[in-house]
Amino acid sequence: MSETQLRSHQWFGRHDLMGFTNRSWMKNQGHAEHLFDGRPVIGICNTWSELTPCNGHFRILAEQVKKGVYEAGGFPVEFPVMSLGEALMRPTTMLFRNLASMDVEETLRANPVDGVILLTGCDKTTPATVMGACSVDLPTLVVSGGPMLNGKWGNQDIGSGTHSYRFTDDLRAGAMSLEQYMEAEACQSRSEGHCMTMGTASTMACMVEALGLTLPSNAAIPAVDARRKRLAHMAGNRIVEMVHEDLRLSKVLQRENFENAIRINGAIGGSTNFVIHLLAIAGRLNIPLDMDDFDRLGSRMPLLVNLMPSGEYLMEDFYYAGGLPAVIETLRDVLHMDALTVTGRTMGENVAGAVCHNPKVIGTPDNPVQPEAGLAVLRGNLCPDGAIIKPSAASPHLLQHTGVAVVFEDIDDYHARIDSPDLEADEDSVLVLKNVGPKGYPGMAEVGNMGLPARLLRKGVRDLVRISDGRMSGTAFGTVVLHVTPESATGGNLALVHNGDRITLDVPSRSLTLDVPEEELVVRRSNWTPLPAHTDRGYVSLYTSHVQQANLGADFDFLRGGSGSPVPRDSH
Ligand code: FES
Repeated sequence: MSETQLRSHQWFGRHDLMGFTNRSWMKNQGHAEHLFDGRPVIGICNTWSELTPCNGHFRILAEQVKKGVYEAGGFPVEFPVMSLGEALMRPTTMLFRNLASMDVEETLRANPVDGVILLTGCDKTTPATVMGACSVDLPTLVVSGGPMLNGKWGNQDIGSGTHSYRFTDDLRAGAMSLEQYMEAEACQSRSEGHCMTMGTASTMACMVEALGLTLPSNAAIPAVDARRKRLAHMAGNRIVEMVHEDLRLSKVLQRENFENAIRINGAIGGSTNFVIHLLAIAGRLNIPLDMDDFDRLGSRMPLLVNLMPSGEYLMEDFYYAGGLPAVIETLRDVLHMDALTVTGRTMGENVAGAVCHNPKVIGTPDNPVQPEAGLAVLRGNLCPDGAIIKPSAASPHLLQHTGVAVVFEDIDDYHARIDSPDLEADEDSVLVLKNVGPKGYPGMAEVGNMGLPARLLRKGVRDLVRISDGRMSGTAFGTVVLHVTPESATGGNLALVHNGDRITLDVPSRSLTLDVPEEELVVRRSNWTPLPAHTDRGYVSLYTSHVQQANLGADFDFLRGGSGSPVPRDSH
């Protein structure tokens, strides 16, 4: 791409009031004259925030990217976008994913940016920035922040989230003291980086690598490993080349890249959140993808990566064992190895020669951790537009189960009654949680893996079938049916479940059935009234008016597709 074809030329390549203004104010930061000579301007889209502890080290990473950009003859400009910290934000970061994507999209389009590096880490920061970038379609490369080192407590490795849930159950069951509980929380998060289980953040880091949007090995390098900084430096080199090659997102991301990502997600035991985010990203590019693709392509994949919550190890171990390149190499026969990536090479070329250094952490199709993993997509009268379950994180004895529903009308009802002595629940019950979907919560919170009644925990029960229109943390586990669509707040059949109804989950036959005659459901539907609106102003009002259902990625209806990167008219 020639100098005058760059977007930034229309800001910095002019000798008029706008050119004077654009260069002059930038020069107050000390930028030398030659940086305005027509070289590519590279945006470093930084989701750093002290309120997003997983991304707290990103300013250092941005400096590494800048080194690489300068070295390759580009002009790096770092800018902040809305950050989404899973640990602190309420009511759920998912409520703000689409907002953050709009921030990315509009910031890129409104500014003199020719190519962009997305610095992402905590769960939603990855899909949000990728969605926004897809709608602009510039040369784009993702650098993940990397996982924390393994949690260490006593003589055991403990994993983000996975052990938080276990320890909380143990505390409630009286199997752990408060002193131990407090000590464990400091031992779990002992370095910079995001959750180090195969939770949503690690899943998203693997997703962007599997899509071909990163340099090889991006997903697993620990945040504090010097090789993470080297990778950021090299990404800075590469993005400048990508601008010269005009290698835009839409050239890289083809249907084959998405199919690769789905298969790889099955093999790594990735988070259920993968489904909703990949659907949303595909929607921005108008690439046809639906729920059934996830079952058809991913559900029979062997589980090759032995990481919590489905397995034993953590991301640090995964990196030392070979990381995602070793997984991709071993799946060569079932992947599109000719899919293009941001390196300018194919997926196959990127991983050629990658080896596994520890077969306990990374298996092979002939010797997998589990013969089948992936995510199963369920249908039935309870979820005509789909629901999902992660069988590898479920209890095998509950994958075919009929039980009596114990219904919570919303999350407040759940909190109020879950430990009530009057709650009629036993080890065969099916817990049903309504109104935690995109419109209902609002924002589709990660509450689907609702904790069990303390009374049952004390009896040693550690899993029940749980059903909701919400999501669950990628670090969680259990026989948890999620993303029930249509959600109860829109009048889906989930809204019509009563205490005492029988529900049948049959994962092998992919069905979820409410055993209530249709005539009875018709009567219940006629008596159903929608919840009052959460608010009639501000972003939440916009969100609930425009958010689509989970089977469409819970993106806004008006954000599907993209508007490209045309340079807007002058501001003065
Ligand atoms: Fe940020 Fe888990 S809380 S990745």
